[in-house]
Amino acid sequence: MAKPASPPPRRIATALAGLAAVLILAAIAIVPRLMQMNETSAATIGGPFTLIDTTGKTVTDADYRGKLMLIYFGYTFCPDVCPTSLGTMAQALDQLTPAERAQVVPIFITVDPERDSFDQLAQYVGNFAPDLIGLTGSREQINAVETEYHVYARKAEGSGPNYTMDHSSIFYLMGRDGQFVGHYASGAAPKDLAAGLRKAL
Ligand code: NI
Repeated sequence: MAKPASPPPRRIATALAGLAAVLILAAIAIVPRLMQMNETSAATIGGPFTLIDTTGKTVTDADYRGKLMLIYFGYTFCPDVCPTSLGTMAQALDQLTPAERAQVVPIFITVDPERDSFDQLAQYVGNFAPDLIGLTGSREQINAVETEYHVYARKAEGSGPNYTMDHSSIFYLMGRDGQFVGHYASGAAPKDLAAGLRKAL
């Protein structure tokens, strides 16, 4: 009588153990890569943008290479957060020496291009700093730059033309090469923002 082959339950157990080993090895290979991806995405705040300045001229991020960009996203009809934040930005810039100041480009990008006309935007940024650049664009261009900077912005309360917007309120500091250097909460003290700018110069 022939000896029976190993019983089926045993074979199933062996197959399952083999499968488990493969899954564990796969996990060991994949997890570090996922962690790396997270680090990469944190480091890729910012990126190329194409927008329109208040004179109607198309500009890109490359136009500001060689200088630091200090970028804030908001909208001119914002009742409180944006004016306060831009005031902080202006105070921080005032703390730099003229030589330092000349190497920083402050930029305000509207998240509300439907209402922020060129004139509206030009007048608004002029209230804070003479060289604060106001940028707008098509809805598609604004969506693209919001995505690159991980900006949250959406219509909130109000109907018709009188809506307000919820939006993230962060200063982005970008280096001379256009790469992300750091970010500051809009509630940061002007002196801390100035110190950050100086360090990045
Ligand atoms: Ni605002």
